[in-house]
Amino acid sequence: MSEVKMIGVVGGGQMGSGIAQVAAMHGVDVFLHDLDPQALSKASSSISSSIHRLVSKATLSQAAGADALKRLHFTTDLEDFHMADFIIEAIVESEDVKKSLFVKLDKIAKSSAILASNTSSISVTRIASSTTRSSQVIGMHFMNPPPVMKLIEIVRGADTSDETFAVTKALSERLGKIVITSKDYSGFIVNRILMPMINEAFFALYAGVATKEDIDTGMKLGTNHPMGPLELADFIGLDVCLSIMRVLHAGLGDNKYAPCPLLVQYVDAGRLGRKRGIGVYEYS
Ligand code: CAA
Ligand code: NAD
Repeated sequence: MSEVKMIGVVGGGQMGSGIAQVAAMHGVDVFLHDLDPQALSKASSSISSSIHRLVSKATLSQAAGADALKRLHFTTDLEDFHMADFIIEAIVESEDVKKSLFVKLDKIAKSSAILASNTSSISVTRIASSTTRSSQVIGMHFMNPPPVMKLIEIVRGADTSDETFAVTKALSERLGKIVITSKDYSGFIVNRILMPMINEAFFALYAGVATKEDIDTGMKLGTNHPMGPLELADFIGLDVCLSIMRVLHAGLGDNKYAPCPLLVQYVDAGRLGRKRGIGVYEYS
């Protein structure tokens, strides 16, 4: 495939909007799609305020900021993706919902287009099986927040071709990221290790070992993490953390991955973290 010129990003939440921003800032034209027009307008304002902040701090020139904003297009119509060379899915962490989206993308996208998923944990092989182009399906896992975090974890499904991998790696590097590669097992590398730590922090809170503040301070100052595990769970989204734990539990089959009942209860109560103004902590 020749150079990726246009990307389609599906899902305008915290990850999709960040991915769209990174791509536009690196000279790629981007269509960002969400079913929810309110999510799109929130994405548009958060991307422009982030770009304006970078310009005001002189991290980005005025011309580069204006150029990035011009490259971004927001749409509620998935059919607009027929011109995209590369599509990155960043919708809800549910295998069924992702598969039904990939069925649609497979029909809409041009035959040469690569379909990537930003899934945190779900089998890329199974997502690919819902399409007629499994060799062109791959996991491209950005970290949150995408404009800041340096890593992309690339996940090869059982059928992912060498060419699809090479194009995805080259694109990731063009976006200024460092790539690691994982086989397609639940949670890949990062979340297989990170999520049990977050889940264990919920168990410590649930068992009354310490206050939430002391659990977070313990891990921040005791192990030099930028955020404590409960604060990080709120940042990621408790719904996303729970979905990942469920995938680890089902996929790796060990009870050590069973989600903490307190995490389940917070999600049941709609305490999804920062994005809802309440999770483990409250946000004003
Ligand atoms: N978009 C763009 N820039 C952002 C940003 C965002 N959403 N959030 C922060 N920044 C920038 C700020 O503008 C600031 O830039 P300057 O240094 O140029 O001023 C810089 O990042 C630092 O931000 P702050 O000073 O506001 O705050 P901070 O120092 O506390 O850093 C943080 C914020 C980068 C999020 C930091 O707390 C951190 O690294 N936290 C841990 C994040 C992490 O672990 N992410 C991975 C989660 S796991 C995952 O993503 C995988 C999964 O599947 C769940
Ligand atoms: P989010 O809840 O912030 O955003 C999801 C967006 O997808 C919402 O705006 C929603 O309206 C939209 N959406 C849902 N179904 C859709 C569909 N069928 N078509 C179009 N849009 C649809 O979620 P997020 O935190 O951005 O996570 C998105 C994906 O990225 C998940 O797979 C998650 O596991 C992964 N991820 C999340 C993080 C994180 O820290 N939150 C980090 C890395 C990867």
